[in-house]
Amino acid sequence: MKTTSDLGDLRGKRVLVRSDLNVPLDGSTITDDGRIRASAPTIKGLADAGARVIVCAHLGRPKGAPEARYSLAPVAKRLSEVLGTDVVFADDTVGDDARAKAAALEDGQVLLLENLRFNAGETAKTDDERAGFAGELASLADVFVSDGFGVVHRKQASVYDVARLLPHATGDLVSTEVDVLRRLTKDPERPYAVVLGGAKVSDKLGVIGNLLGTADRLLIGGGMVFTFLAAQGHEVGKSLLESDQIDTVKGYLERAEKEGVEIVLPVDVVAADAFSADAAHEVVSADAIPADRMGLDIGPASSALFAEKLADCRTVFWNGPMGAFEMEPYAAGTKALAQALVEITAQGALTVVGGGDSAAAVRQLGFADSDFGHISTGGGASLEYLEGKELPGLTVLEEGDA
Ligand code: 3PG
Repeated sequence: MKTTSDLGDLRGKRVLVRSDLNVPLDGSTITDDGRIRASAPTIKGLADAGARVIVCAHLGRPKGAPEARYSLAPVAKRLSEVLGTDVVFADDTVGDDARAKAAALEDGQVLLLENLRFNAGETAKTDDERAGFAGELASLADVFVSDGFGVVHRKQASVYDVARLLPHATGDLVSTEVDVLRRLTKDPERPYAVVLGGAKVSDKLGVIGNLLGTADRLLIGGGMVFTFLAAQGHEVGKSLLESDQIDTVKGYLERAEKEGVEIVLPVDVVAADAFSADAAHEVVSADAIPADRMGLDIGPASSALFAEKLADCRTVFWNGPMGAFEMEPYAAGTKALAQALVEITAQGALTVVGGGDSAAAVRQLGFADSDFGHISTGGGASLEYLEGKELPGLTVLEEGDA
């Protein structure tokens, strides 16, 4: 894959950069700017090289038409602050405003286009529709830089099709992310543990299947753990349960045993009588969840067990919170897990926190990015990489130029 330095002298050239600026918002307030900060170095590097930088990105999942709540305007403001330079904002993506502002850019200036997904062509299923929109994007620029790691698993116009129309290169963020994930998949230093949490086991089935062939230990928490507990024959009360996945999970438990992969499940959980911060809650044994309670976090004995299982690990990948950490009574498990990773990072282990949600969780709980080996900007993308899937946004970069 070519890097930006292979693109030659960029002074005066219009460079279209696909970034992942899909940040969580509360109204128009950005609650975690991690993806903006992670994207800034590539943009700044191009601007410093004298390029006329045209950044494109998506926010949320609008349905192919403008929706004010998904406008990238707040992101343009924050990007200006992070870059320390004014970012021009176009209030459309490939319309009159975008074209006029792209044409008026001076060397070293940065323009952010409005949300790509306000255009149906961005996520269209048919190649022709996507190619049409990609053509309009490509007509704004001379070269393309792919730097939105969080979207490389999407076959979308700004990720895949545009790279087939313009000379292209891989941005620094995508290069760094791929290097780290390669270290996890090609001969990781052992013991290698993967910690999975989050709500749905069905989102992670593929990756679990693949990890049974590579990881030494699999630690499971979050809402998905109750399907594992049910597969072991335990009652899980009102906890999140995907009954249709119980048989698959049983199969994984058997396979893990055969292949010598240790699956570590919580031994206790914080069980509440409602999904709310002020619900009555108590710590109960994981095999004795009362019928009228739901598990909302792993308990203290599980946190200690997970820390013990991670203590000698040399490589750890973590995706998904251990509980409903947004509510203070259910944050302790996620915090303890993050703390265990911080400690082994200090001892030289490679720790990777994968995904927008997990990254936001550790920051919200007061940890710094530098406490971990790497905080990935891509949740779905990093899981699909570990699953061994082909990622269209990376495959296209390996193909030659247009
Ligand atoms: C993400 O948030 O994981 C990326 O920005 C991709 O967003 P998407 O899942 O809506 O494609």
